[in-house]
Amino acid sequence: MRQIPSVLFVCLGNICRSPLAEAALRREAGVAGLDILVDSAGTGSWHIGKGPDPRSCAEAQRHGIDIRSYRARQATPEDFARFDRIIALDAANYADLQRIAPRNPHAKLSLLLDHVPGLEGQDVADPYYGGPEGFEETWQQVSAAARQLVTELDR
Ligand code: 4NP
Repeated sequence: MRQIPSVLFVCLGNICRSPLAEAALRREAGVAGLDILVDSAGTGSWHIGKGPDPRSCAEAQRHGIDIRSYRARQATPEDFARFDRIIALDAANYADLQRIAPRNPHAKLSLLLDHVPGLEGQDVADPYYGGPEGFEETWQQVSAAARQLVTELDR
């Protein structure tokens, strides 16, 4: 029997971008009928145990998804054994993850927008210090990536 694929999204705080990526992949996998394990984490430790930023909660709610029960945690080297895929939201997160990766990681590390044709190499911009429009753009980008990931994983 085939194993259920597992995906971890990682940003800096685990309160703005990666919770939206987690919600978007749960949504797209559900639509496609794909069984999948999804989680998110931050490279930083400031927000451990906190819920997502209220602006991320509002953005998810606009798309009919309640993410208020999500709780922030920090990414660890053990995540490289637990997950098949670890997906960084920006290049700084990617570099930080490379630094904590064990020597022979099980997880394949990638950059989120490398999964979206036309947006390869780009960062999902951090919306933390901006207005609500930043959260909408984040949602559009993580949703596009989630749709691509479902087709990649559903093979
Ligand atoms: P995130 O956004 O990485 O998308 O969760 C941030 C949230 C908090 C901070 C930075 C980025 N912070 O510096 O507290």
